[in-house]
Amino acid sequence: MPFGLVSAWNKRRRSKSEDCTDPWTYKPVELWQLDDQALRPAKRHHGSSVFTLKEMEEASSSFSDGNFLGKGGFGRVYKGTLRSGEIVAIKKMELPHFKEAEGEREFRVEVDILSRLDHPNLVSLLGYSADGKNRFLVYEYMRNGNLQDHLNGIREKKMEWPLRLKVALGAARGLAYLHSGSSIGIPIIHRDMKSTNILLTADFEAKISDFGLAKFMPEGRETYATARVLGTFGYFDPEYALTGKLTLQSDVYAFGVVLLELLTGRRAVDLNQGPNDQNLVLQVRHILNDRKKMQNLIDPEMNRTSYTMESMTMFANLASRCVRPDSRERPPMAECIKELQLILSTNSKGMNMALHKFGYQWLRPTSGGFLL
Ligand SMILES: Nc1ncnc2c1ncn2[C@@H]1O[C@H](COP(=O)(O)OP(=O)(O)OP(=O)(O)O)[C@@H](O)[C@H]1O
Ligand SMILES: [Mg+2]
Repeated sequence: MPFGLVSAWNKRRRSKSEDCTDPWTYKPVELWQLDDQALRPAKRHHGSSVFTLKEMEEASSSFSDGNFLGKGGFGRVYKGTLRSGEIVAIKKMELPHFKEAEGEREFRVEVDILSRLDHPNLVSLLGYSADGKNRFLVYEYMRNGNLQDHLNGIREKKMEWPLRLKVALGAARGLAYLHSGSSIGIPIIHRDMKSTNILLTADFEAKISDFGLAKFMPEGRETYATARVLGTFGYFDPEYALTGKLTLQSDVYAFGVVLLELLTGRRAVDLNQGPNDQNLVLQVRHILNDRKKMQNLIDPEMNRTSYTMESMTMFANLASRCVRPDSRERPPMAECIKELQLILSTNSKGMNMALHKFGYQWLRPTSGGFLL
């Protein structure tokens, strides 16, 4: 697929494009209906609460700058404290008028889907507010923000390899749960997997967020669903862009891009590079299975003593399979989990061996050129 074409398609996920097959009109919240009434909401530990605008204002000190956490395509996100004392993240819908209907749709999908799911690697939706035209989503607060900020964003201390592997495994578990259909009996395609949608707890447990674009895989059409081409530039499955056929493997592709970000510390799309070097996958795909050249891709910010070359080679190989152009050649998420577990244990075994062999003094950050 020509790069320019992907780029044009990909302007932003909330483009002006209209989904003719799924027109959306405003409905009062009490009239919301699930797309398929046969789908029963799964039991959750805590049901979603409904908040008023006043409660949202109180919680966030009237959306003060001090509580501002970040901004995305849907609006701003604020830290808040509920009357119960619970600390939360409040996402406030702020869209220009012509995008409101689309935003409303995403809002409803997010509430519909997330309130049925319960998994340690999915961010919990604690509640929402649909007060007049105001829309808010209330999530559990994730103290360490999003993954991208730790790899190449505002955070100063970069993540070492074992922590990156833990995050990859957590995200893989979250996606596998969605894909398995074990949550509500039907597989769910996330459709917007990316490093800013992987949020991190205080202990760096990864949780997937943002289900506004997610789609249920229709019954009887087990291999694909058709949909508008949406997603985020750089994470986009080229096969989906060409055919419009959405498969679980589109998420696997995007997950592969996240693996490449973890490996290289680079952005999925780097607009500071020349037009041919902006896309991470296109830049690195051909050398991922070349052990020697692949070494040059490893994020130089990582301490050389935090990884073994064997685990890196295995990881690069997994990433290369996830981003294969032909979706049938990509591994299912369950397989990614198994491989990541193996990579993690290979890395820790290698590190332990090195500790025993050379002693701790060689493994201090200052030891520089020590290679395993
Ligand atoms: N539950 C949360 N806890 C803590 N911080 C959060 C939470 N949800 C979002 N954030 C922060 O707010 C930022 C903006 O989130 P948002 O999902 O709106 O945008 P995005 O993921 O960057 O882009 P997009 O709109 O394409 O998903 C995130 O990158 C994250 O740093
Ligand atoms: Mg997001």
